[in-house]
Parts: sequence; structure tokens; C-alpha cells
Amino acid sequence: MQFSAKSGEPQKKKTSCLVVPIFSKRKLSAAAANLDESSGGQISHVLGRGDIEGDEGQLLLLYALPGIAADRVMLLGCGEIDEFCAEKWRKAVAAAIAYLQQSHSTEAVFSLAGIAPKDSSTYRLVRDLVTAAEEAVYRFDELKSDPKKPRRPLKRITLYVASRDDLPIAERALTHGSAIASGTGLAKDLSNLPGNLCTPTYLAKRAQTLGKDSGNIQVKVLDEKEMKKLGMGALLSVSRGSRQPAKLIVMEYRGGKKNEQPVVLVGKGLTFDAGGISIKPAAAMDEMKYDMCGGASVLGTLSACARLGLPLNLIGVVPASENLPDGDANKPGDIVTSMSGQTIEILNTDAEGRLILCDALTYSERFKPAVVIDIATLTGACVIALGRHASGLISNDDELSEKLLEAGTSSGDRTWRLPLWEDYQTQLDSNFADMANIGGREAGAITAGCFLSRFTKKMKWAHLDIAGIAWLAGENKGATGRPVPMLTQYLLQRCKLAD
Ligand code: BES
Ligand code: MN
Ligand code: ZN
Repeated sequence: MQFSAKSGEPQKKKTSCLVVPIFSKRKLSAAAANLDESSGGQISHVLGRGDIEGDEGQLLLLYALPGIAADRVMLLGCGEIDEFCAEKWRKAVAAAIAYLQQSHSTEAVFSLAGIAPKDSSTYRLVRDLVTAAEEAVYRFDELKSDPKKPRRPLKRITLYVASRDDLPIAERALTHGSAIASGTGLAKDLSNLPGNLCTPTYLAKRAQTLGKDSGNIQVKVLDEKEMKKLGMGALLSVSRGSRQPAKLIVMEYRGGKKNEQPVVLVGKGLTFDAGGISIKPAAAMDEMKYDMCGGASVLGTLSACARLGLPLNLIGVVPASENLPDGDANKPGDIVTSMSGQTIEILNTDAEGRLILCDALTYSERFKPAVVIDIATLTGACVIALGRHASGLISNDDELSEKLLEAGTSSGDRTWRLPLWEDYQTQLDSNFADMANIGGREAGAITAGCFLSRFTKKMKWAHLDIAGIAWLAGENKGATGRPVPMLTQYLLQRCKLAD
């Protein structure tokens, strides 16, 4: 979709639909009050008759208002004015866009003057409009033979801000919003692909395509032979159970100063997780095609940052593999040697994410990262702990944690910190190796983090367990593209380009 910002008089703009926010108890936003005046009080007249209250989720269309050039005006309910926040704004935008799309509008105008959620700014308001609008029109239908495409899709949105002075901020917000939305879209597209199409080899090819298309991301793909040379015994033990060879995808974006230490993102790219010999139950096993969402979010975030040309160095590392049962697969009790030299007793072959991640994290040391962040659909236990609203954050660095928590809140893509206390580490004790790959039923999300912490001692590190947030189940089954918004926000803030 195309977005542009304007200041001036939206009532004079010819458009098929002019959207204006209103609030509960029939309160007008400044934008709505403006139109009310131009139309000789038509809007307050309609409100007075009780057709709409202004509550969340309400919409009312008014046709052919005098003094207004638009074909129709959409009054968009945003709820109680005192409770108006970024989250509610995103929901209201989604409702408006869904209506526009279904009513075959190809373009629309939003008038934003004087609507300020208490936790937001013009920058956020505009950026959230873009990301919420793109989210609302996203479909994954490339694998349907006859997709039901909208006959006349929504293509263009113009937004009016209060004054000329707001335009540069609004334009920056549009650029950032579009980049975040396209990175999120890329992550969703990759994640929604099924395991038979999105194999480790395919994921590596898509990374290479991203490299070519962006022009500023260098991509290198290590094959199993090269990984063997590096001693990645943990990672390779997982792919041994599959006919698809593992790949280690390395993407480098160097937008910062030459010697500036990079941020390294490491994403779990398990293209299908059947559990291996410790096989999973059949119910909802199809959802394990989503076990590469961490990897997809790394591609999405790199693509967003490269598109914005952010002044920083950013490296993405995606270990990609399948986890299947096979005559050559890992067996419970097997002991493997990781690239770090530490040995691991595999007591459950379904705890494979940490096995591929630990070698990718050790590999990341070579980049001397300022910080390293891994992103993984790592544990069902994290979904039990936090549900589907926040990712789980585990880190050995308080400052990094604070920044990620903040980026999560301001992008509406939240995370919540879990402790990394020594007390939990003993759950990983093994009688036969340096550690076991599972820590028992209790605190499963934390012991998974404890496992990874043994491979990141030399770095400032954070782990995001995205098992609960990476996709939606049920009727709206599909990838969310999270945490691309939160990671991009973190990186924008690092460059002091977002508030
Ligand atoms: N990919 C799964 C984690 C997962 C499960 C994500 C359900 C989303 C929904 C991971 O590889 C896994 O199987 N973890 C095990 C670990 C256990 C064996 C210690 C789990 O969570 O059951
Ligand atoms: Mn597993
Ligand atoms: Zn897994």
C-alpha cells in the first residue's frame, strides 16, 4: 500500500472515503470537530440522533455531507477519550481498513488532527497506522489455486496531520512504518510456507535473494561439510535425522562505521519439528512448520533495517534444519560435542532448538558482537508461562534487557523477563556429559535459557522465546511476523531514530 502525509484542509480533498476518529459519549476529535464545522453541524446532528456512540469498534458512514469534498465520511469509534492508547488506535485502524477493503475502496484519507493517545506521539500515531493497515490487509494465499483476491484492493492512503510542522515527523513515521510492515510481511510469508516447501535449502535461497534484492546485505551459506570442520556437533546431530541437509545462513549488513561492533541476531530456523525419536503427538503437529519463525524474524528485521539504511552493523545468523525420526537420528542418551567443546547428553530429542542454537551462538563470537540476541520458538513451557501476548526474555545483561522491554512496549510487540538465576542451572546436570539438553518439567522456559547461557558467557546476550507469539492458532491460524516490530524498534532506538 502507498501512504502519504499532508497538512491543510481534508474537507477539500476529493476521496472516496474520509476517515475521522470520534470518542465514546459522542465526543468529537479535533479532526471531527473541523468537519462538523465545514458541514454546518451535520456530524453533531447525526451523533445527537444516537446513530453512533463512538465506542471501540463502531463505524458509521455518512454520505454526501455538505461542504465536504469526500464521497463519504467514516466516523471511526475509538472508545473513551481518557483511555485512548496506541493499542486502541491500532485496533480502530484495523477495523477501518477491513471495512474499506470489503467495500472496494481503492483509496482513503485519514484525518488525524488532534488525536493523541496518552502514551503516544504523532510519530507513533502515524507509524502505527501504517503497520496496523498493512497487517489488516495481509493474506497468505499464494498456495491456493483460485485465491479470492479483493476485486479492487485498497492501494492508497493519505493522512492529514494537524500542521505543516508535523510533516517531517509524519514522513519519517511513514518510512519507518512501511519498512517494519514489509519486514514483518516477509517473516510471515516465510513462516506460513509449509515444511515440504520451506526446507533449510529453500530458506537459504530466500536469504540469498534478499541479499541480491537489497543490494546491501552480504549472504553466505555454510553447508554441512563446512559446519563439520567448525566442530558443530550439536547442530549436525539434529539434521542427521533428516534427508534435508542443514544450512547455516549468515547475513551481514554493514551500515555503520567500519570498526563498530555489530548487533548479531541468531534465529532458530527449524523448518519442521516432529520431535525426532522423542516424537510429538499428532494433534496440531502441522504447527511445527512454524518452528523457523525465529529465523524468519531475523530475515525480516535485516530486510527492514537494510531498507531504512540504518547507521549500524547488523548480522543475522540462522541455523536451519529439520528434526525428524530416522535410523540415523539422535537417540535419547546420545552424547554430542558442541562447537564450544562442551558435551551434551541428549535426553529428549525434541529439545533440538537449543542444540542448533548453541553452535550458532558459539559461531557468533567471531563477530565480536556489541550484543547478541537469539530468537526462537524454543519451549511449550513459555506458552504456558506467558500465553500468547508476550515473548519470554532471558538475558545476562540488565541494560540490554531494559532496552528490549522498552522496545517491546512501544512497538506493541511485548516481551517479559524471566530470571536467569544460578539456582536453575543444576536442573541441567548430567551424569555422563557436561550437561543434559533438558531440565525437567519445572521452569522449562528458564532451563532452556540456562542451557543457552552456557554458550554466551563471553557476550552481552538476550534470548527471546517466541513460542507463544510467533503464530496464531485456530480460525485465524497464521504467522504474526513477531518480533520483527520489536527488534526493528530496538535497532531504531539504538540509532536514536525513534522515540
Ligand atoms: N519447537 C518446540 C517448542 C514449541 C512447542 C513451540 C510448542 C511452540 C509450541 C521445541 O523444539 C520443543 O519441542 N521443546 C520441548 C522441550 C522439552 C522436550 C524440554 C517442549 O517445549 O516440549
Ligand atoms: Mn522440539
Ligand atoms: Zn523445536
